[in-house]
Amino acid sequence: MNDNDEIKFTLPNSSNEVAEVSAAEIEVIEDGYRRIFSRESPEYFIDKGGAGAVYHLPGGFCIKIFFDRHDSPYSEHMDLGNTPIKEASLQERMSHSSFSGNVRVPKYLGTFEKNGVIQKNALVMETLDAHNLQLLLNNKNLPDNFNTDTFLASLEKFIQHMHAEDRIVHNDLFPRNIMVDKATGDPRVIDFGRSVDTTYLVENSIKLEIEERDWKLFDKICEEIYSLQK
Ligand SMILES: Nc1ncnc2c1ncn2[C@@H]1O[C@H](COP(=O)(O)OP(=O)(O)OP(=O)(O)O)[C@@H](O)[C@H]1O
Ligand SMILES: [Mg+2]
Repeated sequence: MNDNDEIKFTLPNSSNEVAEVSAAEIEVIEDGYRRIFSRESPEYFIDKGGAGAVYHLPGGFCIKIFFDRHDSPYSEHMDLGNTPIKEASLQERMSHSSFSGNVRVPKYLGTFEKNGVIQKNALVMETLDAHNLQLLLNNKNLPDNFNTDTFLASLEKFIQHMHAEDRIVHNDLFPRNIMVDKATGDPRVIDFGRSVDTTYLVENSIKLEIEERDWKLFDKICEEIYSLQK
């Protein structure tokens, strides 16, 4: 990244710019993108997975920077999942879900242009103030406000709604992609990097075996959480 590159944060078409992010916040986001790309910024780092790393920005935003795997000469041998653009579009759809329970996804906010070219390597979303469920399971330590029955019942309803109404199968519902809100103990679902838009399948009455994968992984989450309580 050069100092004179023009970085522009771009909001999704569906959003109302004024309501979603203020001009001052856009400045913070664009500045954060520049800093993260121009040097190592350990002070911003939150966590990473196989597809990307997530960096905190002031103001409650974070940036997921995708590793450059789709352009790798070995990409055909890797199970890469969605392109960042596809991941962003599914997360955006889930950000507008009509689900009314106490589960949600981090709000998708937008992406970037550099010198007028859309950047396919980053997305901006709300930072969750939440524990990663995998970490909690590793430490065998669920927070005091965690209620197993409520948590799992809420998550189950969310998955049902996501399949039936949002027409998305998450397809990667491992504990590392579930978070636990620090204030409420409620579930948060992240990482739509392997998610599938099932609109076509539903509209053409094609049997949705793929939904079973979410339920299998949900059952494993239930087992793992209950096993901690023995
Ligand atoms: N909005 C967020 N707020 C806070 N932390 C987040 C947020 N999104 C992601 N994280 C943290 O960053 C980690 C990596 O993010 P994410 O799961 O999206 O990356 P990934 O590389 O696609 O993961 P995977 O290895 O599951 O494919 C998560 O496990 C979580 O701990
Ligand atoms: Mg992940």
